[in-house]
Amino acid sequence: MSLTISDLDKEIKALEEELKNFEYSLEGYLISTGNEELDMRLGGGIPVPNLLAIEGDHGTGKSLLAQQITYGAAKAGKRIVYITTESGIKELVIQTKKLSLDFTEEFLKGYIRILPVHMEGVRWARKVARELLHVLGNYMAYTKDDYDILVIDSFSVLAVYADTSVVLDFLTRARTMVKEGKLIILTIHPEVLPNEIMIRIRAIADSYIKLDFAMVGGKLIKVMKVIKLRGAGGPVDSTIAFDVDPAFGIKVVPLALAKA
Ligand SMILES: Nc1ncnc2c1ncn2[C@@H]1O[C@H](COP(=O)(O)OP(=O)(O)OP(=O)(O)O)[C@@H](O)[C@H]1O
Ligand SMILES: [Mg+2]
Repeated sequence: MSLTISDLDKEIKALEEELKNFEYSLEGYLISTGNEELDMRLGGGIPVPNLLAIEGDHGTGKSLLAQQITYGAAKAGKRIVYITTESGIKELVIQTKKLSLDFTEEFLKGYIRILPVHMEGVRWARKVARELLHVLGNYMAYTKDDYDILVIDSFSVLAVYADTSVVLDFLTRARTMVKEGKLIILTIHPEVLPNEIMIRIRAIADSYIKLDFAMVGGKLIKVMKVIKLRGAGGPVDSTIAFDVDPAFGIKVVPLALAKA
């Protein structure tokens, strides 16, 4: 049996398709949040690589969501750098444990590196504040072989005293890290950064989740609005209602139930 040109053509097309799928499987994967219900609503988990911006007012759950993802990633054997302006190392480990997001073991094994950045008083030293984000940008780039996921909670606290050019430069560098396969998570308090920077963050981020409070049926609940999620594994729920539960961390509440 001899091969015709059209057979060959088909074979080449099939090979190309196979290669494309192979490349895709090399490039992207989904990280479970360690919370099945939340994963399902997000189309299977958080897609990696990704630049994920989590925006919301005080107490809406930015840190919690970042910790929930950190927990899931740690359980999946990923290496995480968690930069926090909000707590010390011990505090963070204890606080997450209280919410059943216990990553003590992974922390002790060195899979999670927690870097507390204390900002108290920094506002009086603008020069230091300005430099911090630049230094963190260097750290992010120089240690890229040592982590899969980098969290900055809160990015807005670090960015607020920096010059616009420094913030924009940092975002460009974060994008470069994403091109290298990383998941970068930035939490942002919307009102503290200049509009110009907020617009840039929302545009440059692959994924953008906005957290808010909502009154449903006389009850105050938290709401996660998934504005975009690049590389999602399946259909994404654009509005996810949730509660904070010591037994679950994030506990997704069906909107219908929240209304009841
Ligand atoms: N152990 C817990 N049990 C129940 N609720 C909790 C627990 N720990 C935290 N919470 C609640 O989780 C919510 C989310 O807090 P989180 O720290 O994630 O908010 P945030 O958006 O990071 O706020 P901020 O801008 O102040 O950093 C808060 O409303 C808090 O009351
Ligand atoms: Mg927080």
